[in-house]
Amino acid sequence: MPVDLVLKNAKMLLHGKIVEAGLAVNDSKIVKIAEEPNLPHASKTIDVGGLLVLPGVIDIHVHLRDQELSYKEDFFTGTAAAANGGVTLVADMPNNKPVTMNTQTLRERMNVAAEKTVVNVALYSAFPAKKEEIRSIIQTGAKAFKLFMSQKVGGVNPDDDEAVTEVFKEASRLTVPIAVHAEDRKLVSSMTEKLRKEGNNDLKDFAKAHSPDAELKAIKRVIGIVRKTKAKIHFCHVSTAKGIKAILSAKQSGLQVTCEVTPHHLLLTSSSLKALKGIALTNPPLRGKKDVQGLWSAVENGAVDVLASDHAPHTFEEKSAASVWDIAPGIIGLETFLPLMLTQVAKGRLTLSRLVQMTSKRPAETLGVTNRGQLKEGCFADLTVVDLKRRWKIDASKFYSKAKFSPFDGWKVTGKPVKTFVNGRLVMDKGEILAKPGDGRIIR
Ligand code: DOR
Ligand code: ZN
Ligand code: ZN
Repeated sequence: MPVDLVLKNAKMLLHGKIVEAGLAVNDSKIVKIAEEPNLPHASKTIDVGGLLVLPGVIDIHVHLRDQELSYKEDFFTGTAAAANGGVTLVADMPNNKPVTMNTQTLRERMNVAAEKTVVNVALYSAFPAKKEEIRSIIQTGAKAFKLFMSQKVGGVNPDDDEAVTEVFKEASRLTVPIAVHAEDRKLVSSMTEKLRKEGNNDLKDFAKAHSPDAELKAIKRVIGIVRKTKAKIHFCHVSTAKGIKAILSAKQSGLQVTCEVTPHHLLLTSSSLKALKGIALTNPPLRGKKDVQGLWSAVENGAVDVLASDHAPHTFEEKSAASVWDIAPGIIGLETFLPLMLTQVAKGRLTLSRLVQMTSKRPAETLGVTNRGQLKEGCFADLTVVDLKRRWKIDASKFYSKAKFSPFDGWKVTGKPVKTFVNGRLVMDKGEILAKPGDGRIIR
């Protein structure tokens, strides 16, 4: 019996070296990686023209919206954007309308996702008000929990140490990971109130309210609770050097903590706001040069586990309000994530091995996804074919995302995802989406 598919004339990064090899797929999985003569006979063969085949990018921080926020993005447009960006699995955040926070809201959201998604999707839930429901939320299909320390999303008040401790304990007992948006709610809201009262409503005032101290305070508080509960915690979008340092020392003391950095915090600084205005307004905000350098060192020396886009779509109107306090924070990133980071590889700022580790292998491990995120026999054939040499210009008007603007619009980049395979099927070819809505799977 022939296998379903063979990719021939490919290059792959295997054991730290780029080698010429082919890959055979059967029943959604990689069944063989070998030199061409040793590959099995296949019903279909695709010649990838000597390009590099990478494990598909796993983006564990994405806001796909949909439901009552479909005007910003929906599961089809968001996952089409993912496929176009070489991303094969996205993990969807729970700050939706309605908030994903119990079995009912989760089930509703899974039903919508199942009909529209073109790549694989995992879902986060916010914590429920009753900790007894944590188990049933996982059984229903959530992959992990998300806790916003900066505002109450879901049933747990982030200011309440005891409540947070209780849900961390329960998640730890069930070995479920928790992603945390670390900003101290009280510090941020008191500073916001003060600035607003004084009539300060400039773009730079947002960063004053969402200060590095607010990030550090929340990180330290969470680490304190992890020490007591042994929960598995993933710190989202760390934006400061001090934040990274605190996380690193928690790791070194044996706690199960990981952290993530976004391309926008690595490639933009607070001075980018002047020209980009609301388009570059995000939370946590873009920081100064020193913090950006600190993040880069952490990327280089291994302190950063995961790169993620924090794709957070809004309408152009929502990004253009006159007062900074009325602008919706968030930057979209699914279609620029991989090209921007491949460009850093081309510039010699990052090795390809390190990039792939932070975009595939570690994200899978962090989220507890098995059999994905690696080019290995037995793993699912989620693959991204990239042209490392392709020089092109980012054009936000061509995005599949509903948000057709980006801080990176017009940037010249080197490296492009040209084919995306999900569960062994070609879903994107040269920018064209071949998958039908619903072809992607929900990863539980
Ligand atoms: O900038 C942000 N946008 N930060 C968040 O924490 C939420 C996100 C969103 O959902 O738009
Ligand atoms: Zn966040
Ligand atoms: Zn986010």
